[in-house]
Amino acid sequence: MKLIIKKDYEEMCAEAAKTIKEQLDHKKDTTLGLATGSTPEGVYKELIKYYKNGEIDFSQVKTFNLDEYIGLSKENINSFNYFMNDKLFDHINIDKKNIHIPNCDGKNIEEFCRNYDKMIEDSGGIDLQIVGVGQNGHIAFNEPANQLSFGTTIVELAENTIEINSRFFDSIEDVPKKAITMGMGTIMQAEKIIWIANGKGKSKVVEKFLSEKTITTEFPVSILKLHKDLTIIVDEQACSSLGR
Ligand code: F6R
Repeated sequence: MKLIIKKDYEEMCAEAAKTIKEQLDHKKDTTLGLATGSTPEGVYKELIKYYKNGEIDFSQVKTFNLDEYIGLSKENINSFNYFMNDKLFDHINIDKKNIHIPNCDGKNIEEFCRNYDKMIEDSGGIDLQIVGVGQNGHIAFNEPANQLSFGTTIVELAENTIEINSRFFDSIEDVPKKAITMGMGTIMQAEKIIWIANGKGKSKVVEKFLSEKTITTEFPVSILKLHKDLTIIVDEQACSSLGR
């Protein structure tokens, strides 16, 4: 496990984007696992900058996103499909057929979940997975529970997640209660994982992860301790509970 502490959000994003660029330099047909939310937004801005400067090529890259709300169409501005197009895909030379984001518009969501894992497997697996973390320790939408799914599955969002994510919606009632998420097993099968966290709001979760020696499904991010190639990139505020 490698911990990188950067001064602020901008530097954290630049570091994560540099790692992604190095991965693509090394393997042009990389399969990336991608996250949504406030944390990776700046990383995607940096990747777009690299692309506009002609320093990165996404033409052979495949992507699989971690999760998506159930009940929002792809066109809904709060859907993760919309977010990814708006924040990254519409601005780079990725082949749209290589983009995979859970899609809940279809009728058989269970079948979709099984196929999603199969598609990841068939693409040769995820080379580099980016994850953010919830304040309750969730990874993707794997919420704290006494057991977690190995593969892609349907989940009920935790109250705390609904509350926190309501900042993007007109009202808390509009936040979907369910989502599709990659399971912890799918995430852990990635060759390399980069966990990014910034701001005071994430300091408790970062401190708990770094100080506790246990692994528990009640704190899903703790499972990342078992990964063979985990890099944690945080800003100083996310480490403030550690007295840094
Ligand atoms: C989103 C995802 C979530 C977020 C987490 C943190 O695809 O998987 O686990 O990473 O909720 O969200 P932000 O970055 O908005 O603090």
